[in-house]
Amino acid sequence: MILKFKDIFKYGDENLDKFFSPGRVNLIGEHTDYNGGNVFPCAINFGTYAIASKREDNKVRVFSLNFEEEGIKEFTLDNLKNIKEDNWANYVKAVVYSFKKDGFKIEKGFDLVVYGDIPNGAGLSSSASLELLISEILKVYNNLDIDTIDMVKLSQKAENEFIGVNCGIMDQFAIGMGKKDKAIFLDTNSLKYEFVPIDLKGIKIVIANTNKRRGLMDSKYNERRSECEEALKDIKEHKNINSLGELTEENLDEALSYIKRDVCKLRARHAVLENRRTIKAVELLNKSDISGFGKLMNDSHASLRDYYEVTGIELDTLVDLAQKTEGVIGSRMTGAGFGGCTISLVKEEKVDEFINKVKKGYREKIGYDADFYVAGVGDGTRKL
Ligand code: GLA
Repeated sequence: MILKFKDIFKYGDENLDKFFSPGRVNLIGEHTDYNGGNVFPCAINFGTYAIASKREDNKVRVFSLNFEEEGIKEFTLDNLKNIKEDNWANYVKAVVYSFKKDGFKIEKGFDLVVYGDIPNGAGLSSSASLELLISEILKVYNNLDIDTIDMVKLSQKAENEFIGVNCGIMDQFAIGMGKKDKAIFLDTNSLKYEFVPIDLKGIKIVIANTNKRRGLMDSKYNERRSECEEALKDIKEHKNINSLGELTEENLDEALSYIKRDVCKLRARHAVLENRRTIKAVELLNKSDISGFGKLMNDSHASLRDYYEVTGIELDTLVDLAQKTEGVIGSRMTGAGFGGCTISLVKEEKVDEFINKVKKGYREKIGYDADFYVAGVGDGTRKL
């Protein structure tokens, strides 16, 4: 990558900096992070690698080895516009915009080459990975006094305000705060969090990519979000709550009866029960009840399929095949859905068999291949 950098930007012997920002998987707690609920993600050992060099002027030049054909993208720190043709580079601008808007002095530009080994648009948060990477670069190159949580918040804002995706805080949080061999039990309402050791003795986390591409922009992500807001608004006419995450199994039926549109009832049912499942799942994991945890993963997928309707034939096929395979503790879609990836907990000695079987079944039914990755739980964004 260093040679590539020097070649692309015509550098000589200058010192270059290296950065890494992971992707994430969510173990359980899907579509709860904008409903005041809990999530349980972790950073993975795949992500975005970068070589960068600070500039003394306000120019930013970026190049992606994943999109070589797009060439160098260039802009200045005082001219930040979301231009469709700039594609992935808009995420770089978005983070600069967000920091500046929050009052940070960003005066030093940079040259940057990135390479991601997480597939783009696969629901492993390649965009949040890039956002935190840029946050770290801005912090280092402009000597900013900012802690990681604020970088997480500004990265989320970048996506909400500049890119126009109304995402919650889960992805940025998992990526910025990630810790090796720990998952993060995060209450998205209070931002209280706890690191939970992922001690999966003899069990591997296997990610399967449907290879059905989707971007959050063209998915129904924002629509789901507003359906939940509508549900909350209806409930609030009768009940004093601030988010769906405050509801439990006990008062769910009453709350649902206040919701006017049937589709919003379904969405709210998922949001509430998924949040409860997440709390239970972490309790089970703390008691080393991995099979109980796996069962809740399966229930989570069913709810995302039947109530939240964000799965689709590709994700359902992968999960059905996985759940029927020996040695699988649990399997579900992860991330926003509508394509993207599944996550399965698989007994180590069965991983090869699992991949072969699911790969074959998927090809027969869907007509093209899924890709498989055995993921480790890694640290968050950092300068190397
Ligand atoms: C995407 C969003 C997250 C979260 C998940 C669904 O990954 O970026 O904030 O809402 O979908 O759980």
